[in-house]
Amino acid sequence: MRRDNPAPHMSARPLLEIRGLHLDFGTPRGHVHALRNVSLDVPAGQVVGIVGESGSGKSTLAYTVMGLLSDNAEVTSGAILFEGRDLLSMPTSARQSLLGDRLSMIFQDPMTALNPVRTIESQMIDIQHHEQSGRSEKRARAIEMLHRVGIADPQSRIGAYPHHFSGGMRQRICIAMALLVKPALLIADEPTTALDATLEVQIIHLLKELQKEIGCSILFVSHHLGAVAELCDRVAVMYGGEVVEVGAVREIFHNPAHPYTRALLECDPGRIRQRTRTLPTIPGEVPSLLGNRKGCIFRARCSQAFDRCLHEDPVEYRIGLDQIARCHLLDEKRLVSA
Ligand SMILES: Nc1ncnc2c1ncn2[C@@H]1O[C@H](COP(=O)(O)OP(=O)(O)O)[C@@H](O)[C@H]1O
Ligand SMILES: [Mg+2]
Repeated sequence: MRRDNPAPHMSARPLLEIRGLHLDFGTPRGHVHALRNVSLDVPAGQVVGIVGESGSGKSTLAYTVMGLLSDNAEVTSGAILFEGRDLLSMPTSARQSLLGDRLSMIFQDPMTALNPVRTIESQMIDIQHHEQSGRSEKRARAIEMLHRVGIADPQSRIGAYPHHFSGGMRQRICIAMALLVKPALLIADEPTTALDATLEVQIIHLLKELQKEIGCSILFVSHHLGAVAELCDRVAVMYGGEVVEVGAVREIFHNPAHPYTRALLECDPGRIRQRTRTLPTIPGEVPSLLGNRKGCIFRARCSQAFDRCLHEDPVEYRIGLDQIARCHLLDEKRLVSA
């Protein structure tokens, strides 16, 4: 059950490989260990979701891949291989040229990405700076993309400013901009959290359609289980800065192996069928990420915790072909002796 060899169908190299990533934030109270030994693959052409309670490190992970971290962040070990090259060790210039070309991002608040004092047209033309084509060709492509994301009358609307659009329309424009560059990987950090439920469904469907068309991968951060079930092929469950379980969406949602994943799903009475907008509440508090820690990160809230959970970090156990969870309960030795 230990993680030895990759499953046979996973042998093609993933587009993004995060390996043993540790990241600290320096704060006046000490080091916040926001990511601990995080490993995650995003296969080419697949949508990978990241779920977990607020503060579990989802945004930190997304921003680390994008290279958009604050100054007090320090990656203490690990690697992030994108198309086989380590993003963390490549020169800044090489990394920057990947942004808005092979890698692009959509944020929870579309105004993070849009410049309020420039027209949509100039922003959508600028974002194509990697393209050789002329201005009128870029403009035509922008109009077509606006049309694709459902902006009515894009020919004349392209000249408007961001504040002329509603929140939902602005998010559509951001998606159009992010996809205009035909990225290999799109990172979306809670792109639908600020929208109402109807708009959310529309945006999820739109993302799914465009992803299939462009063939890109998406790393989709959300605390909405229903949205992840709808959009993603795979999902990673994060807790306290660690990936506690990862696998195919079908496996994780129907056969969760980690007590935290089970708790998330059990607290959600309608399961994923019901469109719960927020993650269910699990009794207890998210652990402090300050200082060093030994043992399982979830033990304080786990009803099945035993001695070993206090003293020893759980390793990764493989369940079936393609599901991995970090929990001592999955140790074969224990299962045999129980
Ligand atoms: N710039 C920062 N400085 C210090 N701590 C931070 C910073 N950004 C995030 N954190 C901390 O890192 C942890 C993970 O945060 P975050 O990645 O935003 O979680 P999520 O996106 O899952 O809600 C939290 O404990 C948060 O307080
Ligand atoms: Mg976040």
